[in-house]
Amino acid sequence: MKIYAHRGYSAKYPENTLAAFQAAADLPIDGVEFDVHLTKDGQVVVIHDESINRTSNGVGYVKDMTLPELREFDYGSWFDEEFAGAEIPTLAEALEVFRATNLRVNIELKSDIFAYPGLEELVIQEVEALEMTDQVVISSFDHEAVARIARLAPNVENAALFVNTVLDVASYQEKIPAKALHVFLPSAVRQPVREAIEKGSIVRVWTVNEEEHAALLIGTGVEALFTDEPEKMLAFIKHTSV
Ligand code: G3P
Ligand code: MG
Repeated sequence: MKIYAHRGYSAKYPENTLAAFQAAADLPIDGVEFDVHLTKDGQVVVIHDESINRTSNGVGYVKDMTLPELREFDYGSWFDEEFAGAEIPTLAEALEVFRATNLRVNIELKSDIFAYPGLEELVIQEVEALEMTDQVVISSFDHEAVARIARLAPNVENAALFVNTVLDVASYQEKIPAKALHVFLPSAVRQPVREAIEKGSIVRVWTVNEEEHAALLIGTGVEALFTDEPEKMLAFIKHTSV
């Protein structure tokens, strides 16, 4: 089973920062996942929430600030003073960390309350400019966005994210169309996902931080798990030889 560092090495470093990405890139793992939003001046930036309130010393929505304005804040000290001064990364900066590595890069397109028209096009342009189309997987809980990726860049791997089990998920996947399914751990062991795996779907599971949870996935055919604890999961998987 493959291991993707979720928001970078987010258990030990402030999530979605270059420090968390470099720490992930330095491990013998298979991939990394991070989340992107669009700024007021049309820059794709890496952050999980649509506001900067939780993961910086500032307040406000990403969509209401330009990149220079977002760069006035500190995205590290909320996690630990050791990381004070960490900047919000642009998509290009995050991609650069992984460009010369063998890690797959899962870019999750966020759209919570506010939509980001044009985000898919911008992300694909940046991935193509860095010649990383074969290295990325673009996912979203917004399945219209997943469908747009399929139309705009059929050669790029796209993935539909799910919180809940969807009945007949394999047919739904074909309809989008999505190349992979990124499912929440409780759904991963249910019948619809098992059937999808039997029919050949690539299934990756978020977010697995406990050995007992990873153990549930052994032998299921799940391709990869996303974890905040990549070293812990590496040790577990090595121990169980899967
Ligand atoms: O992409 C997998 C996982 O990151 C989805 O949930 O909220 O952590 O972005 P979230
Ligand atoms: Mg995510």
